[in-house]
Amino acid sequence: MYKIFFRLVFRRMDPERAHYLAFRWIRLAARIPVLRTFVAAALAPRHRALRTEAFGLRMHGPFGLAAGFDKNAVAIDGMTMLGFDHIEIGTVTGEPQPGNPKTRLFRLVADRALINRMGFNNEGSAAVAARLAARRPVFRTTVGVNIGKTKVVPESEAIGDYVLSTERLAGHADYLVVNVSSPNTPGLRSLQAVDQLRPLLTAVREAADRTVTHRRVPLLVKIAPDLADEDIDAVADLAVELGLDGIIATNTTIAREGLGLVSDPALVAETGGLSGAPLKARSLEVLRRLYARVGDRITLVGVGGIENAEDAWQRILAGATLVQGYSAFIYEGPFWSRAIHKGLAARLAVSPYATLAEAVGADTRKVTA
Ligand SMILES: Cc1cc2nc3c(=O)[nH]c(=O)nc-3n(C[C@H](O)[C@H](O)[C@H](O)COP(=O)(O)O)c2cc1C
Repeated sequence: MYKIFFRLVFRRMDPERAHYLAFRWIRLAARIPVLRTFVAAALAPRHRALRTEAFGLRMHGPFGLAAGFDKNAVAIDGMTMLGFDHIEIGTVTGEPQPGNPKTRLFRLVADRALINRMGFNNEGSAAVAARLAARRPVFRTTVGVNIGKTKVVPESEAIGDYVLSTERLAGHADYLVVNVSSPNTPGLRSLQAVDQLRPLLTAVREAADRTVTHRRVPLLVKIAPDLADEDIDAVADLAVELGLDGIIATNTTIAREGLGLVSDPALVAETGGLSGAPLKARSLEVLRRLYARVGDRITLVGVGGIENAEDAWQRILAGATLVQGYSAFIYEGPFWSRAIHKGLAARLAVSPYATLAEAVGADTRKVTA
């Protein structure tokens, strides 16, 4: 049904317009009490077996919405209503910014992929913090806040920009993510180098602890799939050294070669980060490498190319405690999250593992044993 609608309506529209239209419907539905209760009952069923604990937070299930979809924290209840068990808002930057000129989002339908060069279009940390402070949640959910650098802030002042966002947003975040991996802010990804990442993560940790004193806000870093293997190991070691709570793997890729892309070459050549199905193999590989390095010492979040329950299950077996998705939601529609949770519950039931936590990393442990 959604696929027919997608073909007839959304596919003919500019992707960013389609996004905002769908977004508006979701927000509207979430404002109507009878409708949202009905939709949530249908799409966000709770499976007892899928209850998950990650960095000290209890969640209904492992599958959540990746950053970038709800950049300004306007649709947390709407996306929870659709069955995402945690919502990562952002990326939010210190200052508001418009992002890159349009057109900046492209659909590679034949590849079940997207290319985006949005460039962190968002209302900025002060506005998003005010919205979160005023929020009266309808559904209980976990809200992650993903922060990044304001484009006009020079790289030499990047730490100050992240600290500003942290001071404003940490108090509203169930967990905080330092995003150093989007390809659309010049110089951002160089912050992944350990000598730059160490002072950045240390400063954000200190700012979070200074701002929020009654609890410890979990701190995660989100990395790119384009890092060389040695750099992945270096980030993993740094995360352990600094006592980070988690690593999110991965953001979008700047790679195009070797991904078997079949869409129009002009589309494939668009500048930006590629997400969706072609990213699947590399994201899984990065996750496996991380788990082999850090084991259970750090919580891993798997994202990139997850299309169905089997993909999500493979990430859990590879070492992910939480899994996230974005691109496939565009192609699969509102029943997507429900299908993933249902499929995960079915897989767990016939697996040798009594709990989801037992399944985490089971495949990677077998290979490295
Ligand atoms: C249009 C678009 C915008 C995105 N914006 C952000 C962002 O602001 N911050 C971020 O950390 N990741 C962002 N991402 C990356 C996603 O969170 C995710 O890591 C990536 O798309 C891989 O997952 P997927 O294959 O399920 O889409 C964005 C992705 C897309 C498609």
